[in-house]
Amino acid sequence: MKAINHLTPKQIVHELDKYIIGQRDAKRNVAIALRNRIRRMMVKSDLQKDIVPNNILMIGATGVGKTEIARRLAKVANAPFTKVEASKFTEVGYVGRDVESMVRDLVEQSINLVKEAKNEEVKEKAAENVEDVLLDILIPPVKAPGFSTGRSTSTSSNGDFDPEKASEQELNEKTRERFREKLRNGELEERKVEINVKQSNPVGVGMIGNGMMDDASMAGLQDMLNGMMPKKTKKRKVTIAEARKILMEEEASKLIDFDEVKEEAIHLAENNGIIFIDEIDKVAKSSKSGNGPDVSREGVQRDLLPIVEGSAVNTKYGLVHTDHVLFIAAGAFHVSKPSDLIPELQGRFPIRVELDNLTQEDFSRILREPKNALTKQYQALFGAEDVSLEYTDDAIEEIARIAFKINEDVENIGARRLHTVMSHLLNDFLFDVPDTIEANSKIMVTKDMVGERLSSLVQNRDLSQYIL
Ligand SMILES: Nc1ncnc2c1ncn2[C@@H]1O[C@H](COP(=O)(O)OP(=O)(O)O)[C@@H](O)[C@H]1O
Ligand SMILES: [Mg+2]
Repeated sequence: MKAINHLTPKQIVHELDKYIIGQRDAKRNVAIALRNRIRRMMVKSDLQKDIVPNNILMIGATGVGKTEIARRLAKVANAPFTKVEASKFTEVGYVGRDVESMVRDLVEQSINLVKEAKNEEVKEKAAENVEDVLLDILIPPVKAPGFSTGRSTSTSSNGDFDPEKASEQELNEKTRERFREKLRNGELEERKVEINVKQSNPVGVGMIGNGMMDDASMAGLQDMLNGMMPKKTKKRKVTIAEARKILMEEEASKLIDFDEVKEEAIHLAENNGIIFIDEIDKVAKSSKSGNGPDVSREGVQRDLLPIVEGSAVNTKYGLVHTDHVLFIAAGAFHVSKPSDLIPELQGRFPIRVELDNLTQEDFSRILREPKNALTKQYQALFGAEDVSLEYTDDAIEEIARIAFKINEDVENIGARRLHTVMSHLLNDFLFDVPDTIEANSKIMVTKDMVGERLSSLVQNRDLSQYIL
């Protein structure tokens, strides 16, 4: 299994700081929750099993970083992660996604993580094997001379050493070594070879299922079908470069024991998994509304409960216990309040963190500072065409100001507004490169330019409602 990340809470927050501006409380609490898992793993006594994760409820308006924090946390911890929307679930017995599907998603992510790690482990060995396979295709080996029994004419009783064959074999070996060298140096990448490619099975059970089965049994059936069908192979002529990719996958999977992958993935999901339940406020019974649709909302909460409390969910890879999965729920709670959730569910999310609304100052930092900041993303996009994009400081301030103002005037969508504003601002440039703005040009975004391109939108509320 992949070693658990031994980051301290402070280090975790430091990692999150690279991507998320502000939201100190939320960062600190998710860091604690993550560290508590590591602490739990280190507890020797029977108590270990009793230590339940400190599930977190994030309360904050849209676009202030709730999802981003959870997602980054999972990255930091190298933990399987899945995000679901509570409002997408329906009560058991109704058409729609059942709550257990989130656990199946989680395991799927876990499988990917483990596979990736295993692939990495066997990468070198697989590459060696691929090289052998390619070499065999290019220069098929001749049989080694040895104690052949075929030649009854031979009078020598002491082995049938055949100098002709030996030299043939020697020559073959030499040629192979020469080609091996060429392969390694990448001299043959463009050369075409014929390889056998495994074909995926065309039969799917999707049509048969038609909502009559849940995802797990459907996937199980598909696996069974796949197992029953003989694996078809097809000869394909491809370049060595392509062949390498195709063979690499095959050779790697030969070296990996899939039962082991399943086992580790389940363990990883159970002990390190993070499930992010978004829009939890949408299934809370708001104090105001009548009792129409609330019945089913409460039903969804009741269905969520056993999973959050800890139960065993059947997946196509085996049973997954959710007792130690970390759940992070999030919602704006504009209409309903956390106390409108059923008490049992409230009790399962003991840590409440409120996220701050972002200020104009935060906006300009978000534009500039995160590792993946929008300004950097656009620089990279233009950079790909050898066009340099620079922003003056006051231009960034102006973008932040305008984004903030539109949020106030039209609708507050948080930092998401920065995306729409930036894309509108740079739209013409994105169109003109490389036709009229050629490689090696320089674009300077100034405050005046920002004003020119965006001010009409800011003043015209109707317009900005549609465009920004
Ligand atoms: N505090 C923040 N720091 C940096 N980027 C942020 C912050 N808040 C939101 N963003 C950016 O805004 C977008 C939406 O954020 P997200 O976390 O999905 O919002 P929500 O709170 O609605 O889940 C993302 O692209 C994210 O990078
Ligand atoms: Mg979100």
